[in-house]
Amino acid sequence: MSNVHELHFLKEKIQALKDEGVYRKLPILEGANEAEITLNGKKVINLSSNNYLGFANHPRLKKAAIEAVEKYGVGAGAVRTIIGNMDIHEEMEQVLAEFKREEAVMVFQSGFNCNAGTIQAVTEKGDLIISDELNHASIIDGARLSRADKKVYKHSDMNHLEEVLKENRDKYRNMLIITDGVFSMDGDIAPLPELVTLAEKYNAMTYVDDAHGSGVLGESGRGTVDHFGLHGRVDFTIGTLSKAIGVIGGYVAGSDTMKDWLSHRGRPLLFSTYLPPAAVGAITEAVKLLMSTTEYTDRLWNNAKYFKEKISQLGYNIGNSATPITPVIIGEEGKTMEFSKKLLENGVFVSGIVFPTVPKGTGRVRCMVTAAHTKEQLDRAIEVFKKVGEEMKVL
Ligand SMILES: Cc1ncc(COP(=O)(O)O)c(C=O)c1O
Repeated sequence: MSNVHELHFLKEKIQALKDEGVYRKLPILEGANEAEITLNGKKVINLSSNNYLGFANHPRLKKAAIEAVEKYGVGAGAVRTIIGNMDIHEEMEQVLAEFKREEAVMVFQSGFNCNAGTIQAVTEKGDLIISDELNHASIIDGARLSRADKKVYKHSDMNHLEEVLKENRDKYRNMLIITDGVFSMDGDIAPLPELVTLAEKYNAMTYVDDAHGSGVLGESGRGTVDHFGLHGRVDFTIGTLSKAIGVIGGYVAGSDTMKDWLSHRGRPLLFSTYLPPAAVGAITEAVKLLMSTTEYTDRLWNNAKYFKEKISQLGYNIGNSATPITPVIIGEEGKTMEFSKKLLENGVFVSGIVFPTVPKGTGRVRCMVTAAHTKEQLDRAIEVFKKVGEEMKVL
């Protein structure tokens, strides 16, 4: 009999990943996350991070983090509901609510557990969650944790969404429509004006995960809801503090009632220690910085437009991307990973993204252009895409 501790069942699964050509080791970044980085001992252009605005190593944020550590220490010391709630946490939420132009904001320890905690807390048996088929994994997990029924509508297909709403309106008490604001793997924007109008027609609530829209779209990065001028018409707007804001954490923006309820039933807030002071100091500084200037979002969009145009001109398929997320769709899984490997050998780091993160046969390298890239770095990266594409005959 084999020894159960040898985990043979997992070894077999790992071997299957190797056979499919999708096995990988975690990359090791030596130093801060910047536009050009040292990875496994080699200097490369970084087109892989979510550090949209270059805030992850911004001097003002670092200074604010250090000051918060000096005054408040390195840990919150408890879950929020016991005594892990400091005055700087409260200030962070007030600044964020002002930034998002909403009544209230509740901050969680990550975007992932914000979704997991919020969806579960605001739905129950007798309710229906209606979710876009390409929604992020944390939404799927949040819905799984809820006792509500679930239906999935075709990606951004408002006719299909209406069918689902019409068919189910009388069967459920509350219906909650959930969509990403910006889809993380394709960079397309959800049709929010139409979605919100449908929600109002069928008296459903709306939930927008704007992890990739916050800090990117709208006035100085206020997000997709601001971009479409839909303030007051979306019940729950999720943002993350780990991508454009450059630190860690996630939040839901909405009403005082929402916040009041989550402070009693948001399980990650009740059962997991709250954000450390360094993160809180840096987050508040980042949001204040965004409220004081559009310099960072302007630079992000200039770079993104430039890169997307050049990559499209080379003949690559970038799908329906309308944001700085630029998928270069290769297709077959093994070939996608090989493409990513060749880019790295030539000095450009872009991770290959394959099934199960994206549907089978739609493997891609997902290029993330940031405000911190220089034109020279982007030009160098584009040259590498041309060379590798020609070598691998994908152009
Ligand atoms: C759409 C979406 N929602 C939520 C998350 C989770 O955010 P975080 O990294 O802050 O946990 C991500 C990040 O991968 C995301 O892309």
